[in-house]
Amino acid sequence: MRNTRYRLRTGVSRISFKTCIVADLHDRPYGQILPILKQEKPDLVLIPGDVTETLRAGEETTERNGLRLLTECAAIAPTFYTFGNHEIGGCHGNIRLSKMANEPLTFTLTSAWKGIIESTGVVLLRQSYTVWNGLAIGGLGSGLLNPGWKPELDWLDAYVSAKGYKLLMSHHPEYYDRYLRPYPIDLTVSGHAHGGQWRVLGRGVYAPDQGLFPKYTGGLHENRLVISRGVANTVPCVPRFFNPCEVVTVEVNAE
Ligand SMILES: [Fe+2]
Repeated sequence: MRNTRYRLRTGVSRISFKTCIVADLHDRPYGQILPILKQEKPDLVLIPGDVTETLRAGEETTERNGLRLLTECAAIAPTFYTFGNHEIGGCHGNIRLSKMANEPLTFTLTSAWKGIIESTGVVLLRQSYTVWNGLAIGGLGSGLLNPGWKPELDWLDAYVSAKGYKLLMSHHPEYYDRYLRPYPIDLTVSGHAHGGQWRVLGRGVYAPDQGLFPKYTGGLHENRLVISRGVANTVPCVPRFFNPCEVVTVEVNAE
C-alpha cells in the first residue's frame, strides 16, 4: 500500500488542511490503510465511494469490512463519504442483464442502512454538501442507474454558491470532463478507475466507463482533480500490474 502525496495551493486565504483519500475498498481487508491514516493524522478523511457493496433492502448488516473501515476512519478524523456505483448496485454487467430482462435497476437507501452508516460516525453526502471548518464538502454519487447514466447535478449551483473552499467527492473521475469542469470547484477527488488495473508505460490500460487506455486513472489533473487508484485489488483473477494500491494524501496550503 502506497501513500501518494500531493501538495496544492488554495488561492483562498486562511484555508489550509490535510486530507487522506480512501477509495474503492469493495469490502476487502483494510489493515494496511490504518497505519497510514494514523501516521498522517489528517484533518479529514474523504471516502469517494465503493467502500462496500450493494446496500440492498432487507440485507442490512454491520458485518462488512467497508462499514468497519468507516468506523475506523471516523475514529481517526472527521470522515465524509459518498456512494459509488457499487453501493447502489450499479455496474455494467447487471445493468445489461436488467436491460435484457426489461426490469430497470433502481436504488433506495433504506432507513436501516442509513442508520447503520450514520452509526459509524461518518457524514454521508449524496448529491448534497456540508460546510465544515471553512470547507464546503460535497458528495456527487454515481449516476449509473439514471437515464443516460447521468449524475444528479441540479444541487451543484447551490453548492458552488456556498462560502468556503469547495471540496467535492465525485466517485466517477470521468464526470470531470463530462460535467464538472465549468463549475468553480477548488478540488474534486475521485476513485472508480482502479488505476486502469494494469499500467503500461505509465498509463492505465482499462477503466469502467472510460474503456481502453482511459484518460483518468490516477494522479493530479489541472491542479484540481485528484484521482485515487484505489486501496484494494478488486479483481483477484486479474492482478494489478505496476499499479500498487494507494491511500492519497493531499495537503492544501493557503497562498
Ligand atoms: Fe466504482
